[in-house]
Amino acid sequence: MDIEKLNRIAIQMGQAPRGILAADESTSTIGKRFASINLSNVEDHRRAYREMLFRTPGFGKYISGVILYDETIRQKAADGTSMVDLIRSEGALPGIKVDMGTKPLPGADGEVITEGLDGLGARLAEYANLGAAFTKWRAVINIGKGMPSQYALKANAEALARYAALAQAAGLVPIVEPEVIMDGDHDIDTCFDVTEAALKALYDSLWDHRVVLEGTVLKPNMVVSGTENPRQAGIDEVAAKTLKVLKRRVPAAVPSVVFLSGGQSDQDATAHLSAMNAAGPLPWHLSFSYGRALQASAIKTWAGKPENVAAGQKAFAHRAHMNGLAALGKWTANDERSAA
Ligand code: 13P
Repeated sequence: MDIEKLNRIAIQMGQAPRGILAADESTSTIGKRFASINLSNVEDHRRAYREMLFRTPGFGKYISGVILYDETIRQKAADGTSMVDLIRSEGALPGIKVDMGTKPLPGADGEVITEGLDGLGARLAEYANLGAAFTKWRAVINIGKGMPSQYALKANAEALARYAALAQAAGLVPIVEPEVIMDGDHDIDTCFDVTEAALKALYDSLWDHRVVLEGTVLKPNMVVSGTENPRQAGIDEVAAKTLKVLKRRVPAAVPSVVFLSGGQSDQDATAHLSAMNAAGPLPWHLSFSYGRALQASAIKTWAGKPENVAAGQKAFAHRAHMNGLAALGKWTANDERSAA
């Protein structure tokens, strides 16, 4: 294993002012996004949408890598250029989601396990040939009555670690994503405790599976109030509690920590990240790997219409720029107005 190469890539992925664009929605998930703009979920529309994003002039200034879905890493733009080449021409790295989604975890009502380990070694080799430099696997941890169980935390951490070991063996940087879901009426301290337990289980399993942390990237949730909780923690509390749990549970050997947005508003996701970076110095590069928080305004502006492509690209470029400032700890609400 060329750990120096993996380490270089893992640093590059989270180094300010850049972060990751998560554009790896499965066909069914992108269908939900398209439904919000009344667009049918056919391959031509998926191509047109991703091509719009990847042809955004200058996006590579703020985006170090793009996570793709299986269809997209094999796909060509309308003029025959591969999506992978569009991304590379901006100096960004193509990456690939390799998990196969979640299924109910037997014996644990309401909890899920991520599938996709069978045959993964061969799939990783193919993705490396298609140009991927890194990979992603997402575990889903639900909070609720009696949840998460230790069983679910452990089973998901084991799967993440087995995946990470296989990715490194294939020469690809694994993004490990144990997502504690925001849905529920729990308070922010419950989110803190569950996030701590999930990270503890993850780093124990990564050790067991001999994963070299210098060649990994962590993609965590932030510590936030449950969406149905009457007391919603403010920006400073989210930033302080998220940093506290990361410092307690994420070894300094991990080069980059890149957050998911998880359903936060665009501006909250940016404000939280900026507040954390402003509280540095930190042991890791701390940046973003947002899906919805980078794409929501672009998809709405585009609305599936060719005449809106430039406006959609402008919306995406704006969010990328704002999050680039946040990766530096330098974003203010004023930047939204002046740069919009
Ligand atoms: P969100 O930022 O929309 O949560 O998506 C990030 C992601 O890739 C989840 O796996």
